[in-house]
Amino acid sequence: MRLEGKTALITGAARGIGLEFARAYIAEGAAVALADIDGAGVRAAAAALGPHAMAVEMDVTRQGSIDDGFAEAIAKLGKIDILINNAALFTAAPIADIARADYDRAFAVNVAGSLFCLQAAARHMIARGAGGKIINMASQAGRRGEPLVAVYCATKAAVISMTQSAGLDLIRHGINVNAIAPGVVDGEHWDGVDAHFARLEGRPAGEKKHLVGTSVPIGRTARAADLTGMAIFLATAEADYVVAQTFGVDGGNWMA
Ligand SMILES: NC(=O)c1ccc[n+]([C@@H]2O[C@H](COP(=O)([O-])OP(=O)(O)OC[C@H]3O[C@@H](n4cnc5c(N)ncnc54)[C@H](O)[C@@H]3O)[C@@H](O)[C@H]2O)c1
Repeated sequence: MRLEGKTALITGAARGIGLEFARAYIAEGAAVALADIDGAGVRAAAAALGPHAMAVEMDVTRQGSIDDGFAEAIAKLGKIDILINNAALFTAAPIADIARADYDRAFAVNVAGSLFCLQAAARHMIARGAGGKIINMASQAGRRGEPLVAVYCATKAAVISMTQSAGLDLIRHGINVNAIAPGVVDGEHWDGVDAHFARLEGRPAGEKKHLVGTSVPIGRTARAADLTGMAIFLATAEADYVVAQTFGVDGGNWMA
């Protein structure tokens, strides 16, 4: 029970990695607010997790929605000790075909959404004076560019940079900001990525996922549960001296 008495808000928690983080945090004794733009999905997810989970319908691209969502979570949970900035969108296109609307949406969710949730959490944590932990979801895609994935890669590079700046700014308040950079995590997100590559590279469905999965040094794609150990560690006092870092949990794809 490494998170006994702790409370967390996790964005993008209706499914996938965010939902797995919520499950793992509750198993470690935390109470968790699952926040997502998918209101019905997040209510069903929270209900399935039981009494230590609550649902918050939140669109991280709208400041009013962030403000209301944090206020609702703080009112019900009493405080927020941990934020996981997990909500994100994937998009892919050759440079010549990138649509401005896709660029704007990806940066609004992945970068501005993460920054202003981080800000909301930081304001609450600073006011409480009890420190806190903020974990941003980056990606191996933020470490280097990829053909066809310029926009998503750039958003995740921005998340890594923001983790560094926020980490350096907020540690004087006892708030640790760090990031996790996954590789290829199987689930609905990667089903969507695979569909993009099937369209852009003329591949049969599932081929891209198979190819990238078999090229991971550990020999397989990740499951969301492969990431929970790092997410728990970064939320505990054991990580008090860990500041402004991005940790690859990617089966060996990237060596920092
Ligand atoms: N799956 C992977 O292979 C992989 C790899 C590297 C990094 N990541 C990162 O991990 C995180 C989680 O990925 P996942 O695979 O669980 O993705 P996912 O697509 O399965 O889940 C993302 C969740 O975010 C929610 N969301 C989208 N827009 C939102 C908004 N405006 N406001 C609130 N919620 C919103 C969605 O409704 C969804 O529930 C993301 O930041 C992703 O970029 C994933």
